[in-house]
Amino acid sequence: MNWLPRPADGLAHVAPSLLSADFADLKSDIADMTAAGADLLHLDVMDGHFVPNLTFGPFICQAIRRLSQLPLDAHLMITEPERYLKSFARAGVDALTIHVEIDGDVGGTLDRIGDLGLKRGLALKPGTPVIDILPWLDRLDLVLVMSVEPGFGGQEFDPTAADKIGELNHRRQSEGRSFLISVDGGINQQTGALCREAGADILVSGSWLFGAEDRAARVAQLGHST
Ligand code: DX5
Ligand code: ZN
Repeated sequence: MNWLPRPADGLAHVAPSLLSADFADLKSDIADMTAAGADLLHLDVMDGHFVPNLTFGPFICQAIRRLSQLPLDAHLMITEPERYLKSFARAGVDALTIHVEIDGDVGGTLDRIGDLGLKRGLALKPGTPVIDILPWLDRLDLVLVMSVEPGFGGQEFDPTAADKIGELNHRRQSEGRSFLISVDGGINQQTGALCREAGADILVSGSWLFGAEDRAARVAQLGHST
């Protein structure tokens, strides 16, 4: 298990989303992002049912584990995450983030993730209000605020995500909780700064980071307030 503390004020952890990596040369892209200063890797798992796209599952996560020492957060955009938790744990990921919009037993699935020794994450789509995740806030290590409809990289940031981050940050302080707040979708220097100021601890970025000439400069721009 390999995880991250809350970043210091004004800083954020940077999580490249491998959805935008070159899967024919994942090894180079991961080494490059690691050298650029990435703090963790974000793995987008899609089942073609919860979202209208397909990516990869535990098998590829296991290969990624062999390529990197960084913490791995698997973002499970799948209808029945409970069926695959053990496989992802065996693959060596550090955190499993499920969606609150699934039809299944959210609380039971989060408990099971914890029982497997992994960090428990809960994601919400742009149209889902913060109130929908409150019943499980006490058992979360991570809240993932989606700032685009899940399914594809390269979409435009939805600014209501910053309001949700602010609401979660406020609640975290007033209730004395320690979950991390992550944001995913359309993150670049401007939107990243907005989210960092609202209280986000982890900025997930795919197309903007991988499309850069100078990835180290972009990682630094996301991670720092200057
Ligand atoms: C979308 C994924 C995101 C996506 C982010 O469903 O969850 O992680 O890859 O990509 P960008 O940064 O391009 O919006
Ligand atoms: Zn994601």
